[in-house]
Amino acid sequence: MLERESQKTFKRLLPRMEERLKEKIAQDPHGWQVFSTRLQKHFPKLFKLYFDIYHENYDFFFHLEDLLIVLASAWFERSVDLRKLDNAREKNPLWFQSNQMLGGVCYVDLFAKNLEGVKSKIPYFKELGITYLHLMPLFKAPEGENDGGYAVSSYREIHPPLGTMKQLASLAREFRQAGISLVVDLVFNHTSDEHLWAERAKAGDEDYTDFYRIFPSREMPNHYEQNLREIFPEEHAGAFTFFPDLFNEGGWVWTTFHSYQWDLNYANPAVFNHMAEEMLFLANQGVEVLRLDAVAFIWKQLGTGCENLPEAHTLIQAFNAVACIASPALVFKSEAIVHPDDVVKYISPNECQLSYNPLLMALLWNSLATRKIDLLSQALGTRFKIHPETAWVNYVRVHDDIGWTFSDEDAAMLGVNGSDHRRFLNEFYRGRFNGSFARGLPFQENPLTGDCRISGTCASLAGLEKALHEEGANEVELAIRRILLIHGVILTVGGIPLIYLGDEIGTLNDYTYRDDPAHERDSRWVHRPRSDWKKYAKRNVSNTIEGRVFHGLKMLIELRKQHEAFAGGELEVIPTENEHILGFMRTYANKRAVIFANFSEESQTIPTRILEQYSIHGKKRLHGKSKVPPQKDVTMEALDFLVFG
Ligand code: GLC
Ligand code: GLC
Repeated sequence: MLERESQKTFKRLLPRMEERLKEKIAQDPHGWQVFSTRLQKHFPKLFKLYFDIYHENYDFFFHLEDLLIVLASAWFERSVDLRKLDNAREKNPLWFQSNQMLGGVCYVDLFAKNLEGVKSKIPYFKELGITYLHLMPLFKAPEGENDGGYAVSSYREIHPPLGTMKQLASLAREFRQAGISLVVDLVFNHTSDEHLWAERAKAGDEDYTDFYRIFPSREMPNHYEQNLREIFPEEHAGAFTFFPDLFNEGGWVWTTFHSYQWDLNYANPAVFNHMAEEMLFLANQGVEVLRLDAVAFIWKQLGTGCENLPEAHTLIQAFNAVACIASPALVFKSEAIVHPDDVVKYISPNECQLSYNPLLMALLWNSLATRKIDLLSQALGTRFKIHPETAWVNYVRVHDDIGWTFSDEDAAMLGVNGSDHRRFLNEFYRGRFNGSFARGLPFQENPLTGDCRISGTCASLAGLEKALHEEGANEVELAIRRILLIHGVILTVGGIPLIYLGDEIGTLNDYTYRDDPAHERDSRWVHRPRSDWKKYAKRNVSNTIEGRVFHGLKMLIELRKQHEAFAGGELEVIPTENEHILGFMRTYANKRAVIFANFSEESQTIPTRILEQYSIHGKKRLHGKSKVPPQKDVTMEALDFLVFG
């Protein structure tokens, strides 16, 4: 039914588009042909998704036509080399599953001062092996507090101290030549309250008050809040902020995150169209992967928790259809830091081809704290497999806090009480639990629920800070092994490994954020230090901390890049009969690798039987310190990472 209607609509709209775009078509007839072929192919999909969300709007067809004009106009702006990339990616849509892929993420200003600085670091990215670089939000944002750039005032302007949009486009080109895909955020759940749309809403322009969710009284906010979780409870209670100058008597604006981040109203088709336009603008600068920020929150409905609603998926799929038509090279990465059942729902070739893997991240830290692999092994066995045309982005740290997002039901199966265990993990990583090696800080502690998340750099959480300042050489060695162990897992487990730059040289917590009024209230800044290039200079000096971490990591990266078994995402868990040793096998194109990771500070044994079952004795040891005597049990050294292939 809808299929027929979509064809009818397409036939009616095409000549209208041709009329409106006739000058551009005359200048670029071949481009128009390529575009209209793609449009025809993907239109039924886009039509259905857009219809699902917006069919109750009186002006549905007006907005649909407007959207198509947005797509075509963006296409005409798309450069020749990006159109070439579109073709290449359509032919090889699984490019991101290669074992050559290695992700990195950094802040432009903190890493290299500005965009030119980042450009000058291309040799360093190549040295490390980076093929995917996420530059943290670099768009125009309010001065002072701006949530590390996640309050965007213009998607088309770079935050002035960092450079210009022209420089970003030129950086993207240089990256492409160096084999690096540029990744930036699409912060599409909210804008800053200084964005032009918000400014117009503040001025009372009704077209723009409809861009946000603004209420004249507490009535509706009260209803909504009965079912909402508080995301940043230290910043403001509930999900709304009162602005006295709105309307005549003031108004309540939906602000899931900070008060200066206004949630957009996707029930309004004009919001979708405008965001599609901003998205394609970024794609045309040469952005290859968009990190879709805070995907869980984009649709709101009274009586629900307003997270992970079905319409959120429909909207992202509609954005995906937009990309298929006007910037096919573009790939989405979902940032859903929610229950694992919900995380996977964003992952599909038609929605987000890539997704953070917050469960693996949290359970790696869990295994370091408990020295046990039960939850981790269970998660790899039951939750790791995703659609074969997609990939996880596996990481140990990013710019955000660590939330313990494992499933309580999974934990219960192993006799673990979820909330008690989270309390233990928080105590452990704050360094308050007896025997803890970690130096982390609480983030957004909620006195009402006792909830809290953890901030801290990889090295400080893994014990390096405590070892260097309070202990000695043995503990330093253990901390470095912990860092390398969890990186070993993300580099071999399948999908794209992502390194939070700074971690590769063992960067410790930086407590100076407490002296900065724009940061003092947000402990995440403890793990967002300015790069110290004097320390980076020591990365090739073997007896320094930097050198030991960097060298260890480089060996793991080379291991990944040299063996095709690490491509793709196929994984089989190996029951090692030892509660401290994680085991898994990776297969790709008939190549195999077998991995064992000892999460204990004691040596641990893998029985011969298991080794025989996976024919270890006939394989080469590709990585690890432990001895592998023929036909015998293998005794793994403390925190060792053994790889056979
Ligand atoms: C995402 C970002 C986080 C930010 C939030 C609001 O979760 O990762 O840093 O605070 O969105 O934009
Ligand atoms: C919440 C959100 C997540 C965001 C984080 C920032 O956990 O679910 O999207 O990254 O807050 O701290």
